[in-house]
Amino acid sequence: MKKKTFYITTPIYYPSASLHIGHALTTVMADTMARYKKMQGFDTYFLTGSDEHGLKIEQSAQAVGQEPQEYVDKIVAGFKSLWQKLLISHDDFIRTTEERHKKVAQAIFQKIYEQGDIYLSTYEGWYCTPCETFFTERQLGEERLCPDCQRPVELIKEESYFFKMSKYAERLLEHIAENPEFIQPVSRRNEMINFIKSGLEDLCVSRTTFSWGIPVPINEKHVIYVWFDALTNYLSALGYGTEHDQLYQKYWPADVHLVGKDIVRFHTVIWPTILMAAGLPLPKQVFGHGWLLLDSGKMSKSKGNVVDPVVLIEKYGVDAVRYFLLREIPLGLDGYYSEANLIQRINTDLANDFGNLVSRSVTMVEKYCGGEVPSAQGEADPFERELLALAATVPQAVAGFYDRMDFANALDCVWRLVKRANKYIDETMPWVLAKDPCQKGKLDTVLYNLIEVIRIVTVMIAPAMPALWPKVSAQIGATVTFQPTWADIEWGKTRPGQVVAKGKPLFPRIEVREEQKKKQEEKQAAEKGKIESGEIAFEDFAKIDLRVAEVLACEKVEDTEKLLKLEIRIGEETRTIVSGIAQHYTPQELVGKKVIVVANLKPAKLRGILSEGMLLVASHGDVLEVLTVEQNLPSGSEVN
Ligand code: ME8
Ligand code: MG
Repeated sequence: MKKKTFYITTPIYYPSASLHIGHALTTVMADTMARYKKMQGFDTYFLTGSDEHGLKIEQSAQAVGQEPQEYVDKIVAGFKSLWQKLLISHDDFIRTTEERHKKVAQAIFQKIYEQGDIYLSTYEGWYCTPCETFFTERQLGEERLCPDCQRPVELIKEESYFFKMSKYAERLLEHIAENPEFIQPVSRRNEMINFIKSGLEDLCVSRTTFSWGIPVPINEKHVIYVWFDALTNYLSALGYGTEHDQLYQKYWPADVHLVGKDIVRFHTVIWPTILMAAGLPLPKQVFGHGWLLLDSGKMSKSKGNVVDPVVLIEKYGVDAVRYFLLREIPLGLDGYYSEANLIQRINTDLANDFGNLVSRSVTMVEKYCGGEVPSAQGEADPFERELLALAATVPQAVAGFYDRMDFANALDCVWRLVKRANKYIDETMPWVLAKDPCQKGKLDTVLYNLIEVIRIVTVMIAPAMPALWPKVSAQIGATVTFQPTWADIEWGKTRPGQVVAKGKPLFPRIEVREEQKKKQEEKQAAEKGKIESGEIAFEDFAKIDLRVAEVLACEKVEDTEKLLKLEIRIGEETRTIVSGIAQHYTPQELVGKKVIVVANLKPAKLRGILSEGMLLVASHGDVLEVLTVEQNLPSGSEVN
């Protein structure tokens, strides 16, 4: 019989900033699901990647004086290394700047155009660049702030291609009504139904005012709207529409697109209507999870409150970080991160409950049975019956939770068994049994049951904590190389006679001394205050050496669109600076100007040219000006 397939995706992330623990949440959830399905015998395919086009990326690259490709390459390398550290087991990583993706995105655009659902017109309306989203007047409040990120939106007017999204509104509503699993959890489903019912307009699917994107196949003046481009990654990664489309044939339609709640709309309105227009089957499910919040609100680079997952992994270990993420976010709702919460979970659930169960049990097998797991014997007593009954029902309940991607409850359910096993030790008191030779059979039974529960528990949490199984199996003497499947949860697979080996504590307790804890909390509170008000100390500002500099000469950097190379004089010293302002100034315009530079910036090579400092500019929308001073200040003057 053909194996059942399971295709799961994460969103492809924007390389406009480094990833934080909130992004790690989405990817860890998807990874856990993929591993679980694999254990259940599914032929799984797990895709993640990066969403590299659009004005936002172009501007971010420009801000640091780099070409977009060079800029995204570096950030995407960071993504890949983070996923490796988090033990993410994706089968493919798709980058939208890859040829294999561009071809497919263009082919889908062309197909829909030829069939009459894409037409040329003019877009006049609002756009939020940080969110890469078009908004109608109706969606904006009086203040014209982006409803998603609350930043000001821009009015744009340009020739654009439009996709006849409105045409598919009815069909989409029908699909949602007929397929209750399509949008999950239910709260998001209702939200989307209301959104669609309030009216769909045609969607602008191309831009002309910047160039960092996939060219529209029928008109090279246009680049494809970044969301249209991005959504097609789920197909391009499978080789859809190419000669090598075996993966597409095998895995499409996707079983789950796992996404954060902020992008459910793109995945349940834009994406399915694109697929309908292209005549392709819709994904079976879009699952919108909640956000990981800090006490100070949503993590964002501009707020300066991002939590770096790499730091946490190094400090607490990958399994603990994954456990926390999965355990702390209730299904479909938001959850909170704080280091104190994380430490609490590690100390309570992992060190105390699970870690102690393993170390106590293994120690007792060593002490009372010469290190060999004994066999269970004799009649079961009430304690044993209760433990075994729970061990028999928990796995099915846990599977039910995993199937619904309710990881918090899945883990909570496993921990009921962990706690029950600890209680079983207290109830049966093996150290007392060990003193009485007549109780040898009873003692053996207790120890066998404990090792068996540990084995079952570790298999159940293997999708969530993949580094754990090899460590635990080594301690309880199970075959280490063996990759457990869900079927292995069946009671009785621990072999009497297998040799245990006590190892290092699986989850060492994190000691937080009271005093230290208080200080830390005070410091955090003080920092939080600072971040919220956006304040920095004067000493921080004073570190920046700002100087007036005279532009002596200026030329375009060959083969780039944006870079200018400036020769500047700061007092007696001449220097070279590269700046991404070529689209705003001709070289001649700048010569003779007195500009302001950051003089003590660490030099960086841009296009092989060493840039020693940075020019200050101000910008608003598309307008950008270099900051200058009046001519009577000599170059080298300090700015403060
Ligand atoms: O939206 N908690 O990319 P992105 C939980 N490129 N999830 C969070 C989060 C938080 N604090 N912050 C972000 C994009 N996320 C597009 C996707 S898909 C065809 C294109 C989640 O890098 C967010 O909800 O801005 C989203 O699911 C994902 O990170 C990617 O965000
Ligand atoms: Mg986002």
